[in-house]
Amino acid sequence: MTRRYFAVTLVAVIISVAVAGTLLFGNASLSDAELKVARSLSLASLPKIPPDPSNVVADNADAVQLGALLFDDTGMSANGLVSCATCHLENRQFQDDLQFSRGIGTTDRRSMPLRGVGYQTWFFWDGRKDSLWSQAIGPLENAVEHGFTRSQVAKHVLATYPDEYTRLFGPAPKLAEIPPASPLGNQMQQANWQQLSEPTRDEINRIFVNTGKSIAAFERTLVPLENRFDRYINAVSSGQEPGEDATLSKQEINGFKVFAGKGSCIDCHSGARLTDDFFHNTGVPDPNNPPSDRGRATAFAELDADPFTCLGRYSDAAPDSCLDLQFMAREVDLFDRTFKSPGLRGIAERPPFMHAGQIETLEQVIEHYNNAPPAPLGHSEIVPLGLSNREKADLLAFLRTL
Ligand code: HEC
Ligand code: HEC
Repeated sequence: MTRRYFAVTLVAVIISVAVAGTLLFGNASLSDAELKVARSLSLASLPKIPPDPSNVVADNADAVQLGALLFDDTGMSANGLVSCATCHLENRQFQDDLQFSRGIGTTDRRSMPLRGVGYQTWFFWDGRKDSLWSQAIGPLENAVEHGFTRSQVAKHVLATYPDEYTRLFGPAPKLAEIPPASPLGNQMQQANWQQLSEPTRDEINRIFVNTGKSIAAFERTLVPLENRFDRYINAVSSGQEPGEDATLSKQEINGFKVFAGKGSCIDCHSGARLTDDFFHNTGVPDPNNPPSDRGRATAFAELDADPFTCLGRYSDAAPDSCLDLQFMAREVDLFDRTFKSPGLRGIAERPPFMHAGQIETLEQVIEHYNNAPPAPLGHSEIVPLGLSNREKADLLAFLRTL
């Protein structure tokens, strides 16, 4: 057989296999290499949830149960009406569809969906918390969210869930009559906190933290849900014909190629949760002029001052389990106006977009990336993409499969 004849035969065989593949599975438009990349974005690539050594009850079933009750408990708020579920609604991907959330007051950032949150290292848009339990106690004392104080939380939890609490954390101390007290509250609440003895403050802090650790145990059970893209990738990579609820159109497949190729979206939206869990400046406009939100840049000082980190006395971790915190990159200037890359699962159903809900539609998000405007502060990492109208439409179609 001449070389030339061999080459022609080989091409013919490849084409027939591809055509047969198209007829059988309709996936001929994804090469093996592309399928591998696509699989890396599907649930098939989701690892086991990492342990949280800073929380001894992270995977305790009783803590999950108590945490679920606490998550919905409006008794831990200034007006008796606000719970975590007020801004993280289960049937809305655990977010609230609003540009700014409403609790006791109004927040200045957009609520975040919670599925898959147990996989994260940093919490909030700026990552100013390093554990799920430490995050959970934040809103309770925040004046515009629950508007409660830690002494009130401690009293409420001991009074409402005495058996559940004792089973998990051992006998609870008897708290004397204590007025609303918190080092982060209003002037009077801070003064009340100052008047407490150090042992009493420690007892209150411990109950407060255990409340957060129980809520965190519940949040760890909120796993990402399977979408149409996952089903398609599963079917195709196991050689089956994608079922009716598992097909992707040609346009959607092309959109994946834009996402992973010319659009470079995958640089930051990677892995099964479609996030690199890191912080980037993508030049999104600030709702305020001059811009007021410096994002990650202001988180380092907050972490340093926070008694509730992995390295603090209320953590259950040995210091050598806190490497993320010990070795975090912390150049303030480099992180100016950077925010955490959000995961993109279910993205089409939860406008408005970005940390302050400042972009209303997915079409506008794609325009934003395509145009890459300069950042209001710091330096944007994105560059103009030069996408055609067709590529934009394909990308939009792909995002809707997630
Ligand atoms: C008033 C509305 C509101 C309430 C109440 C509220 N949250 Fe949030 N939540 C938000 C907003 C807004 C953000 C983003 C804030 C930021 O980045 O500064 C957020 C962020 C989070 C995050 C970070 C997710 C991530 O991907 O980093 C978690 C986890 C979370 N909330 C859990 C809770 C829990 C648990 C409670 C109850 C103890 C709670 N939230 C109460 C509005 C609320
Ligand atoms: C350099 C990293 C980076 C790249 C590249 C990138 N993103 Fe993002 N993406 C982010 C960050 C960071 C945010 C949050 C920004 C903010 O809120 O200020 C974000 C937010 C989003 C949101 C809104 C999510 C939400 O929950 O509000 C969507 C949708 C999105 N990106 C899609 C894309 C698409 C599509 C591409 C490719 C065209 C892309 N991203 C490229 C980092 C990136």
